[in-house]
Amino acid sequence: MAQPKTKKTVFSGVQPTGDLHIGNLIGALSLWVREQERHDNIFCVVDLHALTIPEAIEAKALHRSSLDVAALYVACGIDPDKSIIFLQSQVRQHAELAWILECVTPMGWMNRMTQFKTKAQMQETVGTGLYTYPILQAADILLYHTDLVPVGEDQRQHIEITQDIAQRFEGLFGYHFTRPEIMVREVGARVMGLDDPEAKMSKSAANPRHAIGILDAPGVILKKLKSAKTDSRTAVDAADLGAGVRNLLTIYQAFAGGTWEEAVRRFDGQGYGALKTGVAEATIAGLEPIQRRFKELRADEPALEAMLRRSAAAAAERAEATMVEVRKAVGVR
Ligand code: TRP
Repeated sequence: MAQPKTKKTVFSGVQPTGDLHIGNLIGALSLWVREQERHDNIFCVVDLHALTIPEAIEAKALHRSSLDVAALYVACGIDPDKSIIFLQSQVRQHAELAWILECVTPMGWMNRMTQFKTKAQMQETVGTGLYTYPILQAADILLYHTDLVPVGEDQRQHIEITQDIAQRFEGLFGYHFTRPEIMVREVGARVMGLDDPEAKMSKSAANPRHAIGILDAPGVILKKLKSAKTDSRTAVDAADLGAGVRNLLTIYQAFAGGTWEEAVRRFDGQGYGALKTGVAEATIAGLEPIQRRFKELRADEPALEAMLRRSAAAAAERAEATMVEVRKAVGVR
């Protein structure tokens, strides 16, 4: 039997833009799957956040991308009978709470957000939604009185501002939101780009050999790994691992299992060609069952839509319970 009061609430969100890659799988999804029995999980496809870069979305394709991402979550091992998986836009309370929180969040706090600065690059033409993006994220998290947010290191600032916004809201209106904490995976939390092992693997990189998609075909995976950047040495030296080699070993360990030391020992002294082939084999084998399940789920769209509607209804019930109190606190009904 479920014991909701003894379990911690875990909330995370992923954008329905670009293809999910192994960095998302290793850094976030696998952590969610591992914790799904222990926690009360809510997973959200943040389609409203996708609108913050309107030039990058194609309105007709947005919902399809959201379905793809939801199906991928399930294919990666998230069980919709144990966790809530829903689309952000189907639970209207997210946008409502975001507005209320925007009104209590000082502009100065937003000005410090580094992700905004990177994405907007100071152009006056970017949408205001990009600027207030972290507040919608705070609303996502606070609506469910989330305890833990499993995300990559790059999201730390957004979780911290969520805590600050909750505190400020409480100071102004006396309503207490649970303060969320970031949950970072100890192994492979950061998978770096194959073309640039100094930069985190990202969905938006221009170079097609930057990331391995969860749905990439075996031949593509092999080709991308073969072209991964290493360093001027030719063989793995356990005593002196470059960033590119470390990244390949991180990927290997994530898919093959075992410890970091075992991964290093397995390849110590071997040429980079053998390392890359070994990493490719482990990656292809690890992704095969996920890819098979994804195809099955996508083949029955009405069933997928129905599952998401059920989950959205469950999420909305909880979100509404919070909003009843929030509306009362700020004085609207
Ligand atoms: N900003 C997150 C990202 O880019 C996505 C996100 C939106 C999110 N809302 C969230 C993550 C709530 C965790 C919790 O990855």
